[in-house]
Amino acid sequence: MISIAIDGPSGAGKSSLSRRLAAELGYIYVDTGAMYRTIGLYVLRSGADTEDEDAVAALLSGIRLEMRYVDGVQHMFLNGEDVSGLIRTEEVSMAASHVSAHPSVRAFLLDAQRALAKDNNVLMDGRDIGTVVLPQADLKIFLTATAQDRARRRYEELVERGQQVDQAQILREVMERDERDIHRQTAPLRQAEDAVAVDTTGNSLEESYRQLLEVVREKFQRMEERT
Ligand code: DC
Repeated sequence: MISIAIDGPSGAGKSSLSRRLAAELGYIYVDTGAMYRTIGLYVLRSGADTEDEDAVAALLSGIRLEMRYVDGVQHMFLNGEDVSGLIRTEEVSMAASHVSAHPSVRAFLLDAQRALAKDNNVLMDGRDIGTVVLPQADLKIFLTATAQDRARRRYEELVERGQQVDQAQILREVMERDERDIHRQTAPLRQAEDAVAVDTTGNSLEESYRQLLEVVREKFQRMEERT
């Protein structure tokens, strides 16, 4: 099985680019952020403090998380309910960032993520895929862009979805989330030593996709030459 790991901070274009690349390659796309978001939603609904590790850990046994593919698109099911749309709000983004810092939450998801890569060709995106989840991935990419650029993209995306948001607020949240993702104790966001860095600052999604495709082509060409 072949696996591609794409990590990077939020808003670098990871999901849109990964989804498209996976479709082009015929791999399963696994959006691990959606898993953390689903847990974040569950904790928010329960009324517990998302930053309280013990409270969150106690809730995990009540969560049945499933990923199903509907017309090739990943849908997240929380105890049987399709929550794919509900997990895309800023409130859930923040909750996901909080719960993903807890080791019990990361352990809860690790086996499921690895099992997916064992049985399928996968393109998995997240923060710790190349460093923790799939350290043996065939190709690791670290996708970045400046915080300003990522906040602008996030803002445009949310406006397009009809949400009322403040751009300065989005930038503050992006920076706050970066800070937490980078400095947490367990599986912090960092570039794996053998990852290829792709900086998409200032590029359109189309340009970023070309950049990414170039890296993939080069890597697979080298793999073919070696075999
Ligand atoms: O990629 P995203 O914005 O949907 O991720 C939501 C949150 O989940 C983000 O704050 C970081 C966290 N996350 C993580 O810690 N590890 C992953 N592999 C994926 C996401």
